[in-house]
Amino acid sequence: MKILSKNTLAALAVVVMTATGAGNANASELKVEKQEWTFAGPFGYFDDAQLQRGFQIYKEVCSACHGLSRVAFRNLGDKGALGYSEDQIKALAAEYEVTDAQPDEEGEMFDRAAKPFDYFPSPFANDNAARASNSGALPPDLSLMAKSRAVGRGFPLFIVDAFTMYQEHGPDYLYGLLTGYESDEPNDDGKYISHGYLGKDGIIAMAPPLADETVEYTDGTPATLEQHSKDVISFLMWTAEPKLEERKQLGFKVILFLILFAGLLYLTKRKVWANIEH
Ligand code: HEC
Repeated sequence: MKILSKNTLAALAVVVMTATGAGNANASELKVEKQEWTFAGPFGYFDDAQLQRGFQIYKEVCSACHGLSRVAFRNLGDKGALGYSEDQIKALAAEYEVTDAQPDEEGEMFDRAAKPFDYFPSPFANDNAARASNSGALPPDLSLMAKSRAVGRGFPLFIVDAFTMYQEHGPDYLYGLLTGYESDEPNDDGKYISHGYLGKDGIIAMAPPLADETVEYTDGTPATLEQHSKDVISFLMWTAEPKLEERKQLGFKVILFLILFAGLLYLTKRKVWANIEH
């Protein structure tokens, strides 16, 4: 008996490919390597100390060009976040200046020190100002970046990833981007090449933002390019999905409940059918 016709198989292949992003033209040329992440898998979690180091990198390096407009200072103290106290967050927010939402008595907008409820201010007044300072290229907001670049690992690994529900393609891609620079010297057009960038031939307007010892860690963690990259990417994964830990813990409880429930149903079935003659 013929169960699956050729057409059904072809349709299935298309569904799998679109679902895993393998159909994306740029993405298919780029090979993204799988990395180890604390937040991967069913027991994934964020390491507070790592998020703090990642935030330090964002603050000291990336924030010169990239906004984080969906994150409020108070979020840094949320459950499952960086583990900062209220006072630490107040002090941290006060280092930034924001424009108040309301004008003053003369009707003028005015700047003030940021408070915990404020969102991270963007480094540029608007997109055109941002482009003008970056030789025409726009540095994108990083709030959701870790989830917005779903570059798959190419055939045949994307099939494995689909079945094992591996979801860390965004962070893997960012790791390739940040560690894949060919050189820190620009070419004649003032551009760079990162072999991990999905643009054509890896040509990117961003100079390599990280190298060994770019920032100084206070917790004794080795300040290598690889470590810096992992730390800032973990922080960006948190900004993109702050409820990741809760989601995974709930998922685990649901599965556990379903297993127990299946067991109970099986026992009930045995009992109900015990005295029925076949
Ligand atoms: C001097 C300015 C500058 C700094 C500092 C900087 N970037 Fe960028 N970044 C840019 C520009 C400009 C682009 C757009 C590049 C393009 O379109 O060619 C960009 C693009 C990106 C992208 C998007 C890549 C893609 O797939 O489209 C990511 C992710 C990124 N930067 C991460 C970072 C991180 C993380 C840091 C800090 C470690 C950082 N950047 C520091 C200027 C900067």
